[in-house]
Amino acid sequence: MTSSELPNYKQLNKFFQKILKQGKYLLNQEVELHPTVGAYPMYDRRIYYSMTNDTLRNEVYQAAINQVVKDKVVVEIGTGEDIVLAKMCVAAGAKKIFAIEINKKSYDRAQNLIDQLGFSDKIYLIYGDATKVEIPELADVCVSEILGTIASSEGVNAIIKNARRFLKPRGIMLPTRSITHIAAACLPDYILASPALSQTGWNYMRRIFEYISYPFDLRICIKNLSRSDLISNIDIFEDLDFNQPLAVDYSQEISLTINKNSRLDGFILWLKLYTSDSEVLDVFDDKNSSWMPVLFPVFYPSIAVNVGDRIEASCQTTLSDDGVYPDYKIIGNLIKTTGEKIAFEYESSHHKPVFRHNQFYQNLFAEDGVRIIYDYSPRNFGERIKFYLRDNLPTSIINQIRKLRTIL
Ligand SMILES: C[S@@+](CC[C@H](N)C(=O)[O-])C[C@H]1O[C@@H](n2cnc3c(N)ncnc32)[C@H](O)[C@@H]1O
Repeated sequence: MTSSELPNYKQLNKFFQKILKQGKYLLNQEVELHPTVGAYPMYDRRIYYSMTNDTLRNEVYQAAINQVVKDKVVVEIGTGEDIVLAKMCVAAGAKKIFAIEINKKSYDRAQNLIDQLGFSDKIYLIYGDATKVEIPELADVCVSEILGTIASSEGVNAIIKNARRFLKPRGIMLPTRSITHIAAACLPDYILASPALSQTGWNYMRRIFEYISYPFDLRICIKNLSRSDLISNIDIFEDLDFNQPLAVDYSQEISLTINKNSRLDGFILWLKLYTSDSEVLDVFDDKNSSWMPVLFPVFYPSIAVNVGDRIEASCQTTLSDDGVYPDYKIIGNLIKTTGEKIAFEYESSHHKPVFRHNQFYQNLFAEDGVRIIYDYSPRNFGERIKFYLRDNLPTSIINQIRKLRTIL
């Protein structure tokens, strides 16, 4: 072999690094599906980690807490094992914090952390359900983060409605307000054709099925969607003012106008959180948020839509039979510019025994029960990178790699 036939290692390496960097970037942007977990007692280290390290979420909480808790008595609902918000209250100069936690393991870990940090004269931990326990004195501020991506989905209405009893007459709820947005969406083709979960996602889903005691069409959230996947204006699915009396059953009319000639697959819902009047977080654009947008795969099979088509619908929230977690229903019409009217109805419940009820869930759950389809692309990152490189390296470089293999 002459020297000109030998692989050019420098060139190889340069190309390889460039493509690898692009590949990693693109794969991290790939749209992923995950089960919603916050409305079930699944809290573990991984879930707390995602919240404790959710920078933007924590920034809006800290800023709002700084505005109101100095020298005040605070009650926190659901402090979690990392006592994130209680620590923020200490840092902001709160007089004392009664921190309530329902999960025994999280409570024990939280107590250890309080002792380790020397906060036991500031943070008084109470084990139990916030709707049932008592606190020794009335508080000035009630801090909580029991919000889902559909804000009410983790039971905030029933819990915060009850928590009013912890507050002095002019006491403040923090956060102050949450809006859940809704828009029509066109999903990436690979999600539509073969929806799949990661192994981790499937593990959580299996634990939720065990907890509820049967499989059902668990609400799914979707990561890495971009604004260009939305094909209508944005409307309000739900608007909760935590400083007003909270209802648990309500409905909201929505009106969406399609703004792209496209395919209509469903609706995307996401949270806009007001921890105070001036501290606002819209989670749609934060790819690292612990709140991922929720997918309602309503139109399976998809419907072709055109600019100007409209969706008029009623979004209904009703408390499920457990008295805490809501069920949701959207009933409405797609009204085409041609005058054609297509009626639809979609239900997303907390735990009703409805399984594989539409094509999306039939694709997600394979024929023989609750098996998950993995195969639209290898979910393992190393494998995915290998496929990405194979598809994207120039032939000359692949040939050089092959040559290299025969030499080594
Ligand atoms: C979303 S996590 C928030 C944890 C922490 N406050 C934070 O912001 O990082 C909600 C926490 O509330 C707890 N929780 C949920 N419902 C509760 C209830 N009814 N009473 C007390 N704690 C509750 C959960 O166990 C969980 O630890």
